[in-house]
Amino acid sequence: MNLQKIAFITGVTGQDGSYLAEFLLKKGYHVHGLVRRTSTFNRGRIEHLRNKNPPGKNTFELHYGDLLDFQSIDSLITHIRPNEIYNLAAQSHVAVSFDTSEYTSQVNALGPLRVLQAIVANGLSETCRFYQASTSEMFGKVLETPQTETTPFSPRSPYAISKVSAYWTTINYREAFNVFACNGIMFNHESPRRGENFVTRKITLSLAKILAGQQEKIFLGNLDARRDWGFAKDYVEAMWLSLQQPQPDDFIFSTGQQYSVRDFVREAFSLCGFDIVWRGSGTDEVGFDKNTNRVLVEVNPSFFRLTEVDTLLGDSSKAQNILNWHPKTTFKELVNLMVESDLKEAGLDPRKFLKPC
Ligand code: NAP
Ligand code: GDD
Repeated sequence: MNLQKIAFITGVTGQDGSYLAEFLLKKGYHVHGLVRRTSTFNRGRIEHLRNKNPPGKNTFELHYGDLLDFQSIDSLITHIRPNEIYNLAAQSHVAVSFDTSEYTSQVNALGPLRVLQAIVANGLSETCRFYQASTSEMFGKVLETPQTETTPFSPRSPYAISKVSAYWTTINYREAFNVFACNGIMFNHESPRRGENFVTRKITLSLAKILAGQQEKIFLGNLDARRDWGFAKDYVEAMWLSLQQPQPDDFIFSTGQQYSVRDFVREAFSLCGFDIVWRGSGTDEVGFDKNTNRVLVEVNPSFFRLTEVDTLLGDSSKAQNILNWHPKTTFKELVNLMVESDLKEAGLDPRKFLKPC
């Protein structure tokens, strides 16, 4: 009898999917990933996981499909018969969701519904566990701080609204169809694999390009937004732990520490010897290097959001107590590892640019 566990990851080409695939492969899982057809190469984050084994013995397999296409999801689940499904696929950019609200809802709200429908239609309710990538964005205009599993939602974007729908769909399939379905309510988590248009990666990549002489300065939106930023690699373990419990449940995953975009800029630039101070206010505010007076940060209102989430701070006590999950990487360590990686990306030697702590 084959006791190897089979996992199916949607969103495997994304930041979290790539770390989760690595994590599950190390645990001995047979991992199947959903990839969608794109006109440019979208497998950069998982390329290193491919073709380690001879054909027929490959424990990492990719399949074309799309969360918008029920037939593709249904037939893959029929074929794979997974023990665990991690639904990470999403249109995950909050700002973009204002321009593509219907599409965002189709992927993020109806996508998980399609996966759950396919689990039930294939008679896998008893044998296949389901993880939904829920988000702190659901707390939006926060109604209490810190946010816990009982804090009411107050979503402020089409993205957040779509994720609230998916959150309740997950709970409904747990209650109505007896699926072992869990929500991981994750606060922001970042890494060198973070998409380049999320603020942390935008900052670290721009810093590296400025040092490489490829960019003059960085343009940002709301510098005062505050987030609870963790390291993505720590968070994929939490996804797995959620599905290893005796009973399905929903958990917050966060660091419990909060910093502003401004703090992130200062921390990243200081690692490379800049001392960023701020001058002016509103859209005229600039960040300049105190040592050289050079302006390195400017505000561009095009990066402001129609409705902003000003502050997010999570309390992950439940996950710490029940799952024994703890974030391992500090804010400073996170910024450091992202800066180091982007210096390399820009063709620079980190040893020459990173100041010793
Ligand atoms: P990401 O890097 O943007 O990855 C998203 C993944 O979804 C990519 O693999 C993407 O494929 C895939 N995808 C998008 N639309 C799809 C569709 N229609 N059908 C199939 N696949 C599709 O996001 P992430 O940061 O890894 O986040 C993973 C999940 O966690 C997302 O659901 C996100 O909303 C949620 N989340 C993230 C955070 C965070 O801080 N990172 C926090 C809370 C929740 P392509 O590579 O082809 O684009
Ligand atoms: N992207 C971006 N670009 N954000 C900026 C910029 C900029 O130039 N300048 C300031 N910000 C502010 C945004 O307004 C927001 O308040 C904050 O920086 C973080 O923005 P993002 O990095 O785009 O992340 P997010 O918090 O909106 O969403 C991420 O985290 C969610 C969890 O809370 C995404 O990963 C979502 O998918 C995830 O659910």
